[in-house]
Amino acid sequence: MLSRQSWKTQQRPGKVALGFAVLGVLGLSSYAQAQSSSLSIDSERVTYADHVAQIITDNCVVCHREGGIGPMQLTNFEQIRPWAPLISMRVANREMPPYAYDQHIGIQDLQGDWRLSDEEISTITNWVAQGAPEGDWGDRSHPVANLPNPDEWNFADQFGQPTLVLDSAPIDVPALGNDMWHRPYVQTGLNQDRCIKAIQVKPAGNAKAVVHHANSDLEVMNADGEYEDYGQLTEYAMGKWGEIMPDGVCRVLPANSRVRWDIHLFPGGVGATAPGTMIEDNVVEIGIWLHPEGYADKARFKQDLKLYRLNQGELVIPPHGTAMTQGFHSFDHPVRVDSFQPHGHLRMRAASLEIFYPATGRTEQISQISNWSATWHHSHLYEPDVAPLVPTGGVLVIKQWYDNTANNPNNPDPDFWVVEGSRTADEMTHAWLAVTHLDEDGYQEILAQREEAKQRTVAAE
Ligand code: HEC
Repeated sequence: MLSRQSWKTQQRPGKVALGFAVLGVLGLSSYAQAQSSSLSIDSERVTYADHVAQIITDNCVVCHREGGIGPMQLTNFEQIRPWAPLISMRVANREMPPYAYDQHIGIQDLQGDWRLSDEEISTITNWVAQGAPEGDWGDRSHPVANLPNPDEWNFADQFGQPTLVLDSAPIDVPALGNDMWHRPYVQTGLNQDRCIKAIQVKPAGNAKAVVHHANSDLEVMNADGEYEDYGQLTEYAMGKWGEIMPDGVCRVLPANSRVRWDIHLFPGGVGATAPGTMIEDNVVEIGIWLHPEGYADKARFKQDLKLYRLNQGELVIPPHGTAMTQGFHSFDHPVRVDSFQPHGHLRMRAASLEIFYPATGRTEQISQISNWSATWHHSHLYEPDVAPLVPTGGVLVIKQWYDNTANNPNNPDPDFWVVEGSRTADEMTHAWLAVTHLDEDGYQEILAQREEAKQRTVAAE
């Protein structure tokens, strides 16, 4: 279990059988729809004490509490009641919890998935439609969230404290001004190659709202004592949780290396919780959990995280216009795609990942994110037993689309021409993929294992 699920207590509320689960199947696309259908179908009483408190405690309080990043607290009935209609709307539209990943399209088994189930959503919308009653607690008390400290590492529950913590050099970020870039170097201090188990980039304290992204590249010292490029260590963009590498693969952290940071800061901050004040001594930290020494000998394949570009030409989005980009990437060996994280800014609305199989001419949809928001860059980690396999010569087809009209709720100004660039007001078009590089034997073995697992399930039924 990922630690981002540790705020969901072990005991999930018994699934509430209220006889309107059919709503979820139809898909709740709008508040109005949710409201009217629930009113007409629902017959059972839904209360805060019996049904809703546990869902909110497990899924919302991590951010909506004192000192959390959410704009209001949702830790008890008195706090929640005034927000009930807005909660119903945000939940029915799948805007909260903030994890835009389309239902019913492609792979749905993700590690650290924040999405509510259809039943949880209809429980909340029905409760609000019934007037959001508190109900009777009897001799029960309000559920208490099992929360990590907001300054704690996201994987602390699972893996303890990181083996290595690398700080960027501190920098002051003014309250107002243009985008800033900060590019310090930090030594890793390793004298042998190691394999990374998990990694998290963490802007310290109130720096969260001003760090738009923080890339970290590795450089390794060569025989002449000079640093050479090695590759990406990790990537961070606002809202990202972290990366966990699947068992049995090695994402190498090389000996005699240093990190070259590329931190993009946005004075004043972006989003509802932006502080709008000067932030002194802003530090970004990388926490790295390493596998024990010698793991590299056991790990048969290497994994890497790379940026995959999408545009073949220039990206230009006219005022009140739209645009779409597409990128093709293939390999001369089989691979497994372990995670997918699209990247864009305020005009990007959606992204998708597909695999084209030249041998059959078939294209398979793997993932789609239709309600993109630049405040939440999730690295979607596929469960290892379903992570997509790409045969030699198979093609990754990555698409992103952009909306510079007034219909895009994130658009600050539809009258602007938007071109490619790294400022927040510009656009970008790439995706980050963690890929395990297999060989033919390894690929066939994984296929055989998956086939065997499928047979076992069939036999068990
Ligand atoms: C990972 C952090 C996080 C989680 C989890 C989360 N929220 Fe939020 N929520 C935010 C942030 C940040 C905002 C303000 C920015 C925005 O609206 O996107 C917000 C905004 C909201 C708003 C709109 C407030 C307004 O004034 O417009 C509502 C309603 C809301 N959340 C309800 C919920 C509910 C209900 C859940 C659980 C089902 C939840 N949130 C889970 C972070 C979170």
